[in-house]
Amino acid sequence: MQTVRDIDTLRRAVAELRADGGTIAFVPTMGALHAGHMALAAEGRRRAKHLVASIFVNPTQFAPSEDLSTYPRREASDARMLEDGGCDILWAPDVAIMYPEGHATTVTVAGVSADLDGAARPGHFAGVATVVAKLLNQVQPDIALFGEKDYQQLAVIRRMVIDLDVPVEIVGVPTQRDADGLALSSRNAYLTEEERRAARALPRALGEAAGAIKAGGDVASALAAARDKLARAGFDPIDYVELRDAETLAPLDDVRRPARLLAAARIGRTRLIDNLAVG
Ligand code: PAJ
Repeated sequence: MQTVRDIDTLRRAVAELRADGGTIAFVPTMGALHAGHMALAAEGRRRAKHLVASIFVNPTQFAPSEDLSTYPRREASDARMLEDGGCDILWAPDVAIMYPEGHATTVTVAGVSADLDGAARPGHFAGVATVVAKLLNQVQPDIALFGEKDYQQLAVIRRMVIDLDVPVEIVGVPTQRDADGLALSSRNAYLTEEERRAARALPRALGEAAGAIKAGGDVASALAAARDKLARAGFDPIDYVELRDAETLAPLDDVRRPARLLAAARIGRTRLIDNLAVG
């Protein structure tokens, strides 16, 4: 695996992969890799001959009050994991390469980024859409893989790629979870042992609500029960627990269309998100 840090070297390295024939898969990350990221890499390898991954902790998707400075960084061990996962190129630019002096363009995706995490984290999805648009232009892969763990992010990126006619296929990969159900996340490293135990309530609350709704239960009561379970487990504040259209993320009050339950809540200092398919 070759680690590259400037755009010219990246373009040459990608051109060499292209000259070798076959398609290129791309997995963008912010590092601190875990089995969730590696599932994207494995799916990329299954679908394409070559694999490119990026590690870039993107400052524009963090609000001033958020954890940019403390976000876990461990590039050396990440690089070993990617190499073992069959990655050909690790693209690891620094901030001055990604956002050189004078950078002035922002990509905003209306509609699907407006509420849920878009409301809780103003500017977050513009930061994500901008950096992902840049990463896709830099790497020019055939397919790019994103986790369903960040379900709204996946929806924003699908919309952006359609709207900007980016010639790439976006592939969503199911959420990878620990044995007790908690979705793997780089931010789980912030949890104390006690918070980690309490955090299991998040996937459980969503699972119970999904079960109740699938069994024909009232949607509002199922969501209220989930919020209540989270509050009793110590989550505070609970940003949202919502049932949404699986594609557009528009509000739903029944499951006649494919639906998704989405939740975000804070335990201690750590904000966790999760989501589950319903029907
Ligand atoms: P990051 O949080 O590092 O996640 C990188 C990719 O891994 C995302 O597509 C995310 O959805 C996926 N992922 C994380 N945890 C997962 C899990 N438990 N199961 C499956 N997939 C999982 O998301 C970002 O970085 C950034 O916003 C990025 C897209 C790189 C833009 O900066």
